[in-house]
Amino acid sequence: MVISVIGVGYLGAVHAAAMAELGHEVIGLDVDAARVDALQSGHAPFHEPGFDEILQRGLASGKLRFTTDYTDIAGADVHFLGLGTPQRADGFGADLSHLEAATESLRAVLPSRDGAPTLVVGKSTVPAGTARTLAAGLEQIEGVTLMWNPEFLREGFAVKDTLEPDRLVYGVRDPEGPRQAVEMLDAVYAQLLADGVTRLVMGYETAELVKVSANAFLATKISFINAIAEMCETVGGDVTDVAHAIGMDDRIGAKFLRAGVGFGGGCLPKDIRAFLASAEENGVGQALGFLREVDMINERRRAKVVELAGEMLGTVAGRRITVLGAAFKPDSDDVRDSPALDVADRLTAAGAEVTVTDPQALDNALRRMPELRVQSDLDTALRGAELTVLLTEWSEYRELDPSRAAGLVAAPRILDGRSVLDARRWSEAGWELRALGRGPVAPAPDSAAEALART
Ligand code: UDX
Repeated sequence: MVISVIGVGYLGAVHAAAMAELGHEVIGLDVDAARVDALQSGHAPFHEPGFDEILQRGLASGKLRFTTDYTDIAGADVHFLGLGTPQRADGFGADLSHLEAATESLRAVLPSRDGAPTLVVGKSTVPAGTARTLAAGLEQIEGVTLMWNPEFLREGFAVKDTLEPDRLVYGVRDPEGPRQAVEMLDAVYAQLLADGVTRLVMGYETAELVKVSANAFLATKISFINAIAEMCETVGGDVTDVAHAIGMDDRIGAKFLRAGVGFGGGCLPKDIRAFLASAEENGVGQALGFLREVDMINERRRAKVVELAGEMLGTVAGRRITVLGAAFKPDSDDVRDSPALDVADRLTAAGAEVTVTDPQALDNALRRMPELRVQSDLDTALRGAELTVLLTEWSEYRELDPSRAAGLVAAPRILDGRSVLDARRWSEAGWELRALGRGPVAPAPDSAAEALART
C-alpha cells in the first residue's frame, strides 16, 4: 500500500520507517525542512535504538522517502497523522494547532484518487472529541474516512513497540458501521495481525480515552510509589522494599513502581494535564482531580532532591555538584520535562556549581539551557565533585565502580535519585549514599532494589 505519515517527529518518523519495514511504500512529510533533509539523508534526528537501521534500510530499498510538499502525498491510500500535541502555552490543555493545520493542508490535496477509498488515521494523543470534530471536516471529501489509532510506544523501545505492540486500537465513528475502513487498516497491519497482535475496534471517544487513560494510569502508579517514598522518608521505611513486596501481588504488578525523582518526558506530564483540562471542560473535573495530586507528588520529588543535597552538603551554595543524566530516561536523548535537567537548574539557582553529564542528551540539554555547564566525559565530570547526584539511570552510571569513582571525586558523597545503586557496596567503598525514599541509614541487602531496576 502507499502510505503517508504526516508529522515525522519521534512518533511519526518511527512509524514511517516501521511501515516501510512492513513492506509498504511510505512518504513521510513534515513542514520542518531540516528534519526532512536529515531523515532523507539517513540521519536520525534523535537517539533511538534500532531506528537508524530501519531508516537506512527503508531509504536503501526505495520504499521510504521524505518530503515537505503535500502534493507528493496526495495519492496515498492511507495518511497517518503523527503530529505532536504539546501542552498549550496558556494552560493545561493540549495544543491541537499542529494537528488542525496538517488536516487542513491534507484536505487541500484531497480527493486525488477519483473517489477511491482513502483512509486518514490519527495517531496523536488527543482529548476525547477531537476525532469526531476532525472527521466532520475530512469526511465531507468523497471517499475519505477518518480512524483513530493511538500509539503507545515508549522512547528507547519505539521500534519494538511499533512492530510488536501489546494491542492495536482502532477508533471508528460507529463500531457497528461499515467495515471497509477497518479492513483497510487491517491490510496496513497485516503482518502484525498475522503475528497474533490483538486488534480492538471501538468508538472514537473510547479509543481517545484508552490512550490518555493508559498514560494517566502509568503516571499515577509512579506518583503512588513516590508518595509512599515520602512516607518512608518520614517514618524510616525503605520504599524499594515496599515496592518489591507489593509488586509481587499479581493484581498490582512490579512494573512502574520504581520510586525516584519521578516521571518526565514529552508524554506523561503533558498528557495528565491535558486529561485534567479535558475533564474540566466536560464538567467532570472532580473525577480526575487526583491527577493534579499526581502531578504535585512528581514535582515534590524534584524539590526533595535539592533539599537532600542541601542536607548532605550543609548548603549547596558554592559547592561543586555533578549531575549524572540529562535525558528524562535512559536510552533516550530527549530532555523534554526532564527531571534531571530540572534538578540541575534548581541546584544552579540555589548557587551550586553544577556540571551535567549524559551519554546522549547534552546537545539537546544545551539547546534548552545554553548556560548549563556540561561535560561529556564521565570521569572528567566526576573529577572534583563534592556531591554526585544520579538522576537518569543509564547503564554506565548503574555500573559505576564505587572504588574507582571515589578516586576521582573531591568527596565521596552520592545521592541516588533513582535507587539503582547497591547501597552496601557504595558504603563499603567509603561513600556516603542517600537515596530517595530509603531514609538516612544505608539499607541492608539490595536484592529488592536490583529486582526493581530490572522491571
Ligand atoms: C510513555 C508511555 O509509557 C508510552 O506508552 C506512551 O506512548 C508515551 O509515554 P515514555 O515517555 O517513552 O512513554 O517513557 P516511560 O518509559 O513511560 O517513562 C516515563 C517517565 O517515568 C520517565 O521519566 C521514567 O524515568 C519515569 N518512570 C518510569 C519512573 O520514574 N518510575 C517507573 O517505575 C517507571
